[in-house]
Order: sequence, then structure tokens, then C-alpha cells
Amino acid sequence: MSTIRSVVLGAGGYLPEKVLSNDELSRMVQTSDEWIRQRTGIRERRVAADGEFTSDLGLHAARAALDNAGLTPADIDLIVLATATPDHTFPAAAVSIQKKLGMKHGVAFDLQAVCSGFLFALTTADAMVRAGQAKRALVIGAETFSRILDWTDRSTCVLFGDGAGAVVLSAESQPGWRSDRGVLSAHLRSDGNYEKMLYVDGGPSSTGTVGHLRMEGREVFKYAVGMVSDVIDEAFAATGFTAADIDWFVPHQANIRIIDATARKLGIPIEKVIRTVDRHGNTSAASIPLALWEASRDGRIKKGDLLLLESLGGGFTWGAVLLRW
Ligand code: UT7
Repeated sequence: MSTIRSVVLGAGGYLPEKVLSNDELSRMVQTSDEWIRQRTGIRERRVAADGEFTSDLGLHAARAALDNAGLTPADIDLIVLATATPDHTFPAAAVSIQKKLGMKHGVAFDLQAVCSGFLFALTTADAMVRAGQAKRALVIGAETFSRILDWTDRSTCVLFGDGAGAVVLSAESQPGWRSDRGVLSAHLRSDGNYEKMLYVDGGPSSTGTVGHLRMEGREVFKYAVGMVSDVIDEAFAATGFTAADIDWFVPHQANIRIIDATARKLGIPIEKVIRTVDRHGNTSAASIPLALWEASRDGRIKKGDLLLLESLGGGFTWGAVLLRW
């Protein structure tokens, strides 16, 4: 029996021009290139220019994704932007992107699940597409974490970077089999009991300030691999796929040690793991779509490949999505 699936028609990305190296950071706080590379795998990250906002990054990524899909803003009726660093408290940065794309039609909104934001946005857009509420959606992850970092705290400021990635989803009729293209299964979780392990110490309703990111890195690390593996097992159980079926593992890019440990636990060979953390750092909601953009652009991810996406972030929020490109 045929069914409607959200099929990816194109991917795009954008990285701000300014590169911030580990050596430059070691002149700002007491750290070293060696410590950062060994503990995280990060060599460098990008930082948005003064006056360059999350919506600007997201707009570049959205345009690139539309170009890649061979579509124009007129074809889009839904924009979901995952971000924890919007331009303003309101209106949503997605609405700003909608305006900058010249759109007066459709609907745009932000969604906040920090580093899991892209998977939450993808799942939300997919549900709307399958419910017939949208035909073609832009799903964007865009962040300017440089604006919420405490640049005197070496335990966090070396980890994050700015960037944006986007995909275009299209409602396509598919046979309703495991071999279908599109989002095949999505599994999201959250648990607010972990809120103090990774949070921002400000906000419009609490302090009236933007605040700075705070993290118990060692604690987050301790939970990350186990929680993510559990939700991936749930995705496998729901679909009948196994790790052996996966063509590309596209994890959230927080730390190379977490990525490699998760791949090892699942039995996915390292050659099938997309890694960008060395050059991007942790770009939160942008990390997965940036990785999709990079690996589809260089020809690794091809039409028909089965992808496993996963993430864990502040909240905690976490999830896994199986997607055939
Ligand atoms: O995207 C959302 C999810 N976030 C994550 O997944 C992040 C998860 N956590 C991590 O990636 C790692 O825990 C970190 C990279 C944050 C830290 O690595 P770690 O191996 O867990 O190090 P640690 O926190 O146990 O710190 C080891 C030592 C400490 O010194 P002592 O107490 O052993 O003397 C830290 O003070 O390293 C010190 N340290 C640093 N040294 C140099 C902490 N940050 C730095 C730094 N440079 N930047």
C-alpha cells in the first residue's frame, strides 16, 4: 500500500568565514591544542562575524539547500528552524528567514531542543508532511553559540562553534516498504531531571539576560553513549533494520570520543561514520545537517543510502532517526 514519506530533495550548509584555531584559544584561556584535540577531536571552529545573526547563517544554508534541490522559496510551505540561539527572544528567527527568502506564504517557526534540535525539527516537519499539512519543508539547524559562551571558562568555550545546515523535504508517494526513500522512523526522548548538567544560566523569564552556557562535561559524557545507544536500539526494533544495514552513521558532533564509542558499541565501522567535529566543533542543532551537507556534497552519501542520525543535548533531549536518502 503506497504511503506519503518526507523525502530529502537537497541539503545545504553555511559556515561563517572566521576560523578560530585551538592555538588562538590557548592565548585566551589556559588550554592547549594538544588537550583539545586529544579530549574532543576538535582542531578549529567557526565564529559568526559581528552583526551576523543566526537567521543570516540559516538563510545561507536554506538557499544552498533550495539550490541543491532545484527549487525556489515559492515551492516551500513550511520552515522549521531548530535553534537555541535565536536572533531575538521573539519573533522566531524562522520568520526572519521566511521574510529574507521573500516568502509571504506558508508557515515558519522555531523549535528548541538544543543539540537534538535538528532531529526534533525533522521529526516535526515529517509529521506535518505526512499529515498533509505541508508539501515541501525547509528544515534548518542554525546556531551562534559563540554569543552564549563564557569565553573565560576553558571547560566549555573550546567546545562549540557557529554554523547552519538545512535540508528540503518533499511529500512523495512511496510503496510503503523498508526500501522507501525518506524519513522511515523517528524516536525522540527527553528528561528534564538532567537539566542542570547542561544549561544556560539566563533567560527572558528568569534573569532577563541572555546568560552563558554551563556544562558538567564529564557527567554529560557519562550518559551520552548509553542513552543514545538505547534510542537507536528502539529505532532498530521498530523497523527491523540492524547496524549492518546502515550505509552512513551521522551522529551529533560533540566529541570524537563519544562518536567513536557509540559507533563501536553499535558495531558500525569507522569508515561509515561522518565526522565533522574536527573542523566545526559542536555546532549544536546545526551539526547533523552540516554533516549531511558535507557528505552528500562530496559524494559519500548517495540517493538510496540508509542513514542513521542521532543526538543528545541539553534537557536532556535525545533521539535517533532512520532516513533513506
Ligand atoms: O552537545 C551536547 C552534549 N555535550 C557533550 O556531549 C559534551 C560531553 N563532554 C565532553 O565532551 C567531555 O567531558 C569534555 C571534552 C567536556 C571534557 O573531557 P573529559 O575527558 O571529560 O575531561 P574532564 O572534564 O574530566 O577534565 C579533565 C581535566 C580537568 O583537570 P583535573 O581536574 O583533572 O586537574 C579539567 O580541569 O582537564 C581540565 N580541563 C582542561 N584542560 C585544558 C578542562 N577543560 C580544559 C581545557 N584545557 N579546555
